[in-house]
Amino acid sequence: MKKIIFSVLLCLVGMQAVRAEVIPSDRMRKIRNEFQDRKLGIFIHWGIYSMLGDGEWVMHNKKLDREEYSHLAGGFCPSWFSAREWVLLFKEAGAQYVTFTSRHHDGFSMWNSEASDYNIVKATPFGRDVLKELSAACAQEGLKLHLYYSHMDWYRTDYPTGSCKNVPHDESTTNWPAYYAFMNRQLTELLTNYGPIGAIWFDGMWDHKEEGFDWGLDEQYALIHRLQPDCMIGNNHHGAPHDGEDFQLFEQDLPGENKAGFSGGQSVSTLPLESCQTMNNTWGYSITDKHYKSSAEVIRRLVRCAGMNSNLLLNIGPRPDGQLPDEAVKILEDLGAFMRPYGKSIYSTRGGCIPPQTWGVTTQRGKTLYIHILNTEKEGKILNEGLEQVEGHWSLLLPKGKYSIKSVHRMGKTEPLTYRNEQGGTRIFLPSRPTTDVTDYVLEATLN
Ligand code: GLC
Repeated sequence: MKKIIFSVLLCLVGMQAVRAEVIPSDRMRKIRNEFQDRKLGIFIHWGIYSMLGDGEWVMHNKKLDREEYSHLAGGFCPSWFSAREWVLLFKEAGAQYVTFTSRHHDGFSMWNSEASDYNIVKATPFGRDVLKELSAACAQEGLKLHLYYSHMDWYRTDYPTGSCKNVPHDESTTNWPAYYAFMNRQLTELLTNYGPIGAIWFDGMWDHKEEGFDWGLDEQYALIHRLQPDCMIGNNHHGAPHDGEDFQLFEQDLPGENKAGFSGGQSVSTLPLESCQTMNNTWGYSITDKHYKSSAEVIRRLVRCAGMNSNLLLNIGPRPDGQLPDEAVKILEDLGAFMRPYGKSIYSTRGGCIPPQTWGVTTQRGKTLYIHILNTEKEGKILNEGLEQVEGHWSLLLPKGKYSIKSVHRMGKTEPLTYRNEQGGTRIFLPSRPTTDVTDYVLEATLN
């Protein structure tokens, strides 16, 4: 009996030891918290694929020969590239971090990699280390730099091809240990030569969904934290977060949604959340995809993310010449124009005490509650779920909850608004009718 109790105790102690590794340190908690405060990041999908103007999956989608595709590098010369111009635009837009595709699924490295000559410095006439320039510009302007890194690789002959089989590949050259060591060498370069990296953003693991395929994440994550203890880890595996991950990603969807079809397997965790979304329908530059969202729509997405306690990672696919598409620049400018007066209702907030409603969302910082009216009409009809005319005035009925309002005004104005408690909740009388041409009608309330 004693023996059994002793073994059980040993097991428990053992479990504690394992768990201790994945429980974040106080420092990491602080870093995650600061990440949540930043709210808006810019995602950059840029590589030699940009030259073909058909998105970052073109090599796979068009079943291109790897050798033939690799010759794109010899012509890659983004003569207009200026890291500083990009970063200044992002900063003006209100973004606080940049996530850059260091190496996408096509296997081309956008920095001067020692582990692979197939890179921007050694294989292109451009010969400049764009990552070095970007990290310097980010450091200068105070933006954090995060790095996207693909687990999957369509170029290397040692990568064990999984479900994405379009690119002709000779199975006999597969060598997982060699490929795994290569990835870790590259991650070591990225985390040694480019200053502080805010996060590594993995993608592509879903190429191997078969039972038993081991990506060696624990060891890889430990390596990252050994090299830069403050570097967060996120992984776009579309599933529940793995031990050691610091934030949870949602692709083209808000947390909890699955409209794009990638998030079926994941529920919302307690980790910081980040939703990555495109401005048009493609991540990498597309010469034909002009289906850009309106600036108002992008702004509302950001506000909705904040109301759902998430960051927005907004994507841009720069042109092969290094310039950002005009539509993207316009959206960035409009975002900036919104964030300058209203950023206070977004940065450093968390999802408010009133959960998302048909009319919009709330964000909160301490006792300040920001009420964002984003929808005023549904299918051409004026919303009356909470937003309605009462006694000849437009009003918003906030649902009942564990809060009570002390005072409320429209953000940017000073006059206090009248409100009253009713059976259904708290009704605030609005100074004017919120209309669809107001991107975000924001009320600022002080709670008791
Ligand atoms: C997907 C795509 C990839 C893109 C990423 C961004 O996983 O494979 O091309 O980089 O989403 O979220």
